[in-house]
Amino acid sequence: SNMNLKNSKTVYVTRPDVAGVGLDILRKECNVTIWSEARPVPRDELLKQIEGKDALFCALTDKIDAEVIEKAGPQLKCIATISVGYEHIDLKECKKRGIRVGYTPDVLTDATAELTMALLLATNRRLLEANKEVYNGGWKSWAPSWMCGQGLKGSRVGLFGFGRIGQEIASRLVPFKPSLITYTTRTQRPAEAKKVNAVHVSFEKMLTESDFIIVCCALTPDTKEIFNSSAFDKMKSNCIFINISRGAVVDQSALYSALKEKRILAAGLDVTTPEPLPLDDALLKLDNIVILPHIGSAETHTRTEMSRITAMNVLAGLNGSPMISEVEI
Ligand code: NDP
Ligand code: DGY
Repeated sequence: SNMNLKNSKTVYVTRPDVAGVGLDILRKECNVTIWSEARPVPRDELLKQIEGKDALFCALTDKIDAEVIEKAGPQLKCIATISVGYEHIDLKECKKRGIRVGYTPDVLTDATAELTMALLLATNRRLLEANKEVYNGGWKSWAPSWMCGQGLKGSRVGLFGFGRIGQEIASRLVPFKPSLITYTTRTQRPAEAKKVNAVHVSFEKMLTESDFIIVCCALTPDTKEIFNSSAFDKMKSNCIFINISRGAVVDQSALYSALKEKRILAAGLDVTTPEPLPLDDALLKLDNIVILPHIGSAETHTRTEMSRITAMNVLAGLNGSPMISEVEI
């Protein structure tokens, strides 16, 4: 291996919880400094620690902007994030300085699609609402119309985003027998769509005709707050809105109003703005919402692999060899 790197290259790791795999890989070949607390590294600490480092192992909780990159200095060769989303990294700045960026697509796709199904089913069949009744005495007896939800069978499901994760969600939807799966993206994907009998539709058509909307796109300037009040106004009153992408694709106060005024049926969110959601947030007072704390990829084997791949990406960035997964910039 690259023993020549030993003790010569320095890496800053912003997460303590890669302890197993990733950290061991890095420590064999580099000088590693880690932020060892469970909370995200404070900004001033990151700015202090990044100075003079050759590589950065970061997470989506760290904003890696021009200031951080500038503070690092010209020797910074690569940034690897333990996530598939990379909107927290200033790619333009990286390109300008020739800094390579690694990420972790593919390995988390199945775990995230699985969690999306769990969130969807928890929302449409009202699992958390119903579960509370078991504990608070609200469960009096079996009753014909009590805790009825809206089934997936025979429904029309619109995917906003049909990439790696969207396609895996679609294949998991099929056994639930929806009447139609549609997808809304800039690029049509006929071959992938054929596998699940999905049809490409416009944003407008998806909004007005879906019984379920599942957001699994990337967060970009174009998708930021694309789910605003005008979008929620166009949805059917029985629409169930699921978001596993990023909180910022939603205008959250518009979502709150739509749910509060029952203009849509329910929502299931794995991502919010901000994260964590403050305990006094208005969304937490609604019954027709299921909120999860960004656990899409939180599956043991997946996270181990994400840690390993991120560490391997760092080493590849330092060695000038191909990363397992590199963002094209
Ligand atoms: P991909 O890059 O494979 O897919 C992204 C999809 O978003 C593509 O279908 C793309 O289609 C679509 N998209 C991008 N811009 C637009 C736009 N303006 N309008 C419509 N569609 C658009 O990424 P993945 O499937 O691997 O991951 C998707 C996202 O999921 C990640 O970026 C991340 O934010 C989130 N995620 C969340 C997790 C969680 O824990 N909740 C876990 C993992 C990922 P096209 O370019 O053709 O428009
Ligand atoms: C990602 O990878 O972008 C997720 O949000 C966390 O796994």
